[in-house]
Amino acid sequence: MKGVTVASPGAPYVVVEDLEKPAPGPNQVLVKSLFSGINPVETYMQSTGVLVHAWPIVLGCDASGTVVSVGSAVTKFKEGDGVFGCTRLGVPGYGTFQEYHLMDEGLAFRKPSNITHEQAATLGVGSLTASLGLAAVLGLRFPEKGETPSSDEWIIVLGGSGAVGQATVQIARLCGYPVFTTCSPSNSSLLKSIGASATVDYKLELADQIAKIEETTGGNFGRVFDTSALSTAAALEILAKASKAKEKKFVTVDDWSDIKAPADVSISRIKLGMIGQPGTEEQAVTKDLESYIPYLETYVEEGKLRPMQYEIVGDGFQAVAEAVKTSNTGKYGGKKCVVKLA
Ligand SMILES: NC(=O)c1ccc[n+]([C@@H]2O[C@H](COP(=O)([O-])OP(=O)(O)OC[C@H]3O[C@@H](n4cnc5c(N)ncnc54)[C@H](OP(=O)(O)O)[C@@H]3O)[C@@H](O)[C@H]2O)c1
Repeated sequence: MKGVTVASPGAPYVVVEDLEKPAPGPNQVLVKSLFSGINPVETYMQSTGVLVHAWPIVLGCDASGTVVSVGSAVTKFKEGDGVFGCTRLGVPGYGTFQEYHLMDEGLAFRKPSNITHEQAATLGVGSLTASLGLAAVLGLRFPEKGETPSSDEWIIVLGGSGAVGQATVQIARLCGYPVFTTCSPSNSSLLKSIGASATVDYKLELADQIAKIEETTGGNFGRVFDTSALSTAAALEILAKASKAKEKKFVTVDDWSDIKAPADVSISRIKLGMIGQPGTEEQAVTKDLESYIPYLETYVEEGKLRPMQYEIVGDGFQAVAEAVKTSNTGKYGGKKCVVKLA
């Protein structure tokens, strides 16, 4: 089977034709890889080797494809179904940059007919990371069908225009919260169109950003989610200067930097890389993720959780390396870079 491997940390992407086609376990499906969203984690894993469990490795985790066979205990899917989601990271057999890859049944989303496979490739990593931050850490409750919750309390999302950010803005809004988000001015109208109530440019002086947050929210927030991994200092300052809440929570996708927390702020980091992995903490994260997927599937099907706008930045396995490079340039800000694999 064809695919793209990385031999060791720092080694280049190489197209190969002799990969073994994986066989699904009882609760797994084998997926023909059609499109893959590109994420910063691919470059992180390729360059440092972190999160890679065995070499050589096939990377790619934002899956979108078609089920070609199912394990003996699978009930959710059948051959021919469209699926998407985030695969296990760094484990041979699961990477999306190959013709066929495995997915765990409980971690695979059913692709509804109102979105294309290209769009589906923009949703898995972003929506699951957003859900871990909003539900597992910040305690938001996902609404059931027909429920439209409403709250006066704001959620502050820093860096709302990325893949994690756009999913976070939409899900927080669905949970009934007004959302204030930071972004480049060019992405402000996009973010308002998907549910943000107010935005501010993160390149302005922090004091000016804080003044706008204070003026808009009246200090009625205690929960801040940095979806950019670049806004820890801003988040802590915003909580210190603009929040009137007694209980202050900060959650970030930055799970690598040293962060010193003030005594009155609880800090949590998201680790989506634990998805599907063995280990007690990993299995707890996996169970949380499995519990979010039925909600997220419904929101996508109802058009309430919208895929990102995207750009096809490569066609075929030989284009993967260049596609990852293009994604890293950031030139398609606000859009997901997607590579076509079949
Ligand atoms: N820990 C985890 O489990 C986990 C999971 C997923 C992702 N991540 C990490 O989360 C980060 C975001 O991932 P992504 O896929 O959403 O990235 P992305 O789609 O590339 O988006 C990144 C966004 O960050 C914004 N940004 C850049 N500098 C900023 C700043 N100083 N302040 C606020 N926002 C800023 C940009 O906004 P504008 O375009 O508006 O300028 C851009 O849209 C990455 O570092 C990724 O590795 C971690």
